[in-house]
Amino acid sequence: MSLIYSLKKGHPTFIRAWKDYIGEIGHFARRVENPLLMAPMVALKSAEWCIYRWYKTPLRRFYGVRGNELIYMITNACNDRCPKCAIWERPEPKSQHLDVAHFLRCLERLHHNLYQVTLTGGEPMLFKRDVERIAEDAHRLGVPMVMVTNGRLIDEAFLQRYKQMGHLLVISVDSVDREKWNEFRGTNSYDIVMPKIELAHRILRDQLRIQSVLARESQEEVPKVAAWCKARGIPHNVQLYQDFGADNWTHAVQPEQMTADSTPCAARKNICVYPNGDVVKCFDHRRIPIAREPLGNIARQDILEILCTRRATEVTRVMRDCNMPCKQMSCNKPQVMLFPQ
Ligand SMILES: C[S@@+](CC[C@H](N)C(=O)[O-])C[C@H]1O[C@@H](n2cnc3c(N)ncnc32)[C@H](O)[C@@H]1O
Ligand code: SF4
Ligand code: SF4
Repeated sequence: MSLIYSLKKGHPTFIRAWKDYIGEIGHFARRVENPLLMAPMVALKSAEWCIYRWYKTPLRRFYGVRGNELIYMITNACNDRCPKCAIWERPEPKSQHLDVAHFLRCLERLHHNLYQVTLTGGEPMLFKRDVERIAEDAHRLGVPMVMVTNGRLIDEAFLQRYKQMGHLLVISVDSVDREKWNEFRGTNSYDIVMPKIELAHRILRDQLRIQSVLARESQEEVPKVAAWCKARGIPHNVQLYQDFGADNWTHAVQPEQMTADSTPCAARKNICVYPNGDVVKCFDHRRIPIAREPLGNIARQDILEILCTRRATEVTRVMRDCNMPCKQMSCNKPQVMLFPQ
């Protein structure tokens, strides 16, 4: 069953529309717990279904207007060696790096639907030229950009242009103590990065954010980072430690606690692109049997074609009820819950 409609005359057929209606409403009805609310809720949902059925474009119909975040993991490679993170252990060969033109086309095709484009990695600044081109295009297309970085490779010229474009920069900091910092980063980068954070703060002001990972290893340090940020007026976000395959750090908040509330995962808003151009709906897609295989690859296919496949629809539907610890990752949360001031 697909929720995507062609608006051409005679499409969808009555049978197809009926099947779609039953498929969507049936799924919705099963989630209404109070029997007294069943009839009004189904009536309202049916009205919504009828309105959206004729809504402007298939993609907007399904993904909403500016309701999506496009997240690009530019590379797995990194110039730090954080023990909490195993991404740097699997750098892709340079020859396999995706031509940025593919991502720029993807951004152009999706921009009407995006509230944000996010760059992460590995270390995105290892591909500084790509970052700059994406930032320029995002600015031209009116899409806010967020880059998450370890801060090593930022410099004044980059920050000045970044400031002008109005994008947000997130620098990862798990400790403000030199010794702990160097231990947490697996490199002696404290004396390189700390002055760059001060520089970023001077130039970017309210466009700078700091993010820390809370694990047993960092739990005494994170409150000190929060206090350091507060003293400078920098918004600070805490991300709970997750299993990234490194197995070197331990949970401060247990996975069962992370899923104990019934808040649904918001990751279905995401469109995620891997360093080789593969597209998935969340970076933890391997936990969902139907989502294990990528939905497509932007080096070979148009992104709209990829997102309008039946499997993309079904994966997104399954994600609606998905409740795993990874829903606590910043990128999988609704935008409003991040960086409270
Ligand atoms: C994977 S990094 C990539 C961007 C950049 N290299 C950096 O460190 O900011 C993105 C974010 O994930 C965080 N992170 C790394 N390992 C993590 C883990 N095991 N659990 C939760 N967050 C993690 C990092 O601290 C960073 O804020
Ligand atoms: S957390 Fe970021 S800086 Fe640290 S190793 Fe992973 S990708 Fe590199
Ligand atoms: S809970 Fe995890 S696996 Fe499930 S949709 Fe969210 S991010 Fe993906």
